[in-house]
Amino acid sequence: MKALVVGGGGREHALAWKLAQSPQISQVYVAPGNAGTALEFKVKNIPTKADDVAALVDFALSKQVELTIIGPEAPLILGIVDTFEKAGLNCFGPHRLAARLEESKSFAKSFLTRYGIPTARYQVFDIKLIDRAIEYIHSQTMPIVIKADGLAAGKGVIIAHSYEEAVDAVQSILLDNVFGEAGKQIVIEEFLTGEEASFIVMADGKNILPFASSQDHKARDNMDKGPNTGGMGAYSPAPVITTAIYHRVVQEIILPTIHGMAKEGHPYKGFLYAGLMIDESGTPRVLEYNCRFGDPETQPIMMRLRSDLAELCMKAIEGNLDKTSIEWDSKAALGVVMAAKGYPSSYPVNDLIYGLPSSDEFDGMSKVFHAGTVEKEGRILTAGGRVLCVCSLGDSITEAQKTAYSLVQKIIWQNSYYRTDIGYRAIARENHLQETHKNN
Ligand code: AMP
Ligand code: GLY
Repeated sequence: MKALVVGGGGREHALAWKLAQSPQISQVYVAPGNAGTALEFKVKNIPTKADDVAALVDFALSKQVELTIIGPEAPLILGIVDTFEKAGLNCFGPHRLAARLEESKSFAKSFLTRYGIPTARYQVFDIKLIDRAIEYIHSQTMPIVIKADGLAAGKGVIIAHSYEEAVDAVQSILLDNVFGEAGKQIVIEEFLTGEEASFIVMADGKNILPFASSQDHKARDNMDKGPNTGGMGAYSPAPVITTAIYHRVVQEIILPTIHGMAKEGHPYKGFLYAGLMIDESGTPRVLEYNCRFGDPETQPIMMRLRSDLAELCMKAIEGNLDKTSIEWDSKAALGVVMAAKGYPSSYPVNDLIYGLPSSDEFDGMSKVFHAGTVEKEGRILTAGGRVLCVCSLGDSITEAQKTAYSLVQKIIWQNSYYRTDIGYRAIARENHLQETHKNN
């Protein structure tokens, strides 16, 4: 069977790598892919952009592609799954109207409220209600969170620490249109405290198959400081998700979401990513939904996936996830994102990368997934903000971190930047557990 992965980042490299391991798969195409996917066994890049839905359908029909997996949100929101299905093609991802869970924060919040799913208290405003928005801010305590309703390339969330900052944020979104169309409406919500985790499941419209838990680091700098990014590193499992919390997330958040979407006539099929805040008492609340797999969470999660990804996706497309189980490597996995200096603002490209592992072979321990890379005349150059995600397995997060950073140190280019503390919270927990063990 031939497969197509749509997208060109680290997430898509990890998905293509995992699909290619399936004995059922003869060829994986990646549109447009990167220099890393081009090197993989059984994997071939095609020069089609991820949001060129018409060209992707034509390609899949002409090559008789039997399974397409969509990586990023943009094509999902354009309705790529609807278009593929109309053409009689299997495509794993939510339909256009189900992808609204990510496309519109006000839709997601009102959906959560309709089904009693725990989330931060909120109100929605537009330009006509700007005075009420400002009044509302003054009736709340700080910090407070202001969000553009639509997709703003990961920049649409402002955490305001003072009334002034909050009012500024409202004005810049509603009056100055800093986020364009995405900021036609805003969501103002309560600031939640606790520890964040990513909970990703596969859904077939009625049933779910939870994936291993994970945590990413969204801030650019060590100790989670600096501007928000797409993610500077991730690891799996997330120790904050204990067995008890796992069951609460499934029962109180994921299942009501899947049942609610089905009830509203938009059964959710695809990866569903719940960004969660877990408070001190262990109560999980939804910060956001994404209608796709996380990047960089995918990379460490795929390192741990033992099951056949192609088979899982086909089972989900058939609506048979209730008859499907999933197997994980008991090891932990951790991925460090190597970025270009300047990311998430402007950054240089075309830097020659030295020290990359010479082949696509997997030594069972570490794997370098590419994101913003390009091959020119046999050399690999940087071509994006997030360039690589260096992933390792280990008996603990501590071990996985050690191995990953030893590999990171061998990979060099002129303007590279990475955090040196990916996994620090999980490692503190592991140290704490060890101390408690020693003292008992
Ligand atoms: P989002 O795109 O909604 O996930 O927001 C991006 C980041 O902003 C999240 O990963 C959190 O770190 C932070 N954030 C969003 N909403 C809240 C909230 N209500 N309380 C605290 N932090 C938040
Ligand atoms: N790592 C966060 C995201 O994929 O949205």
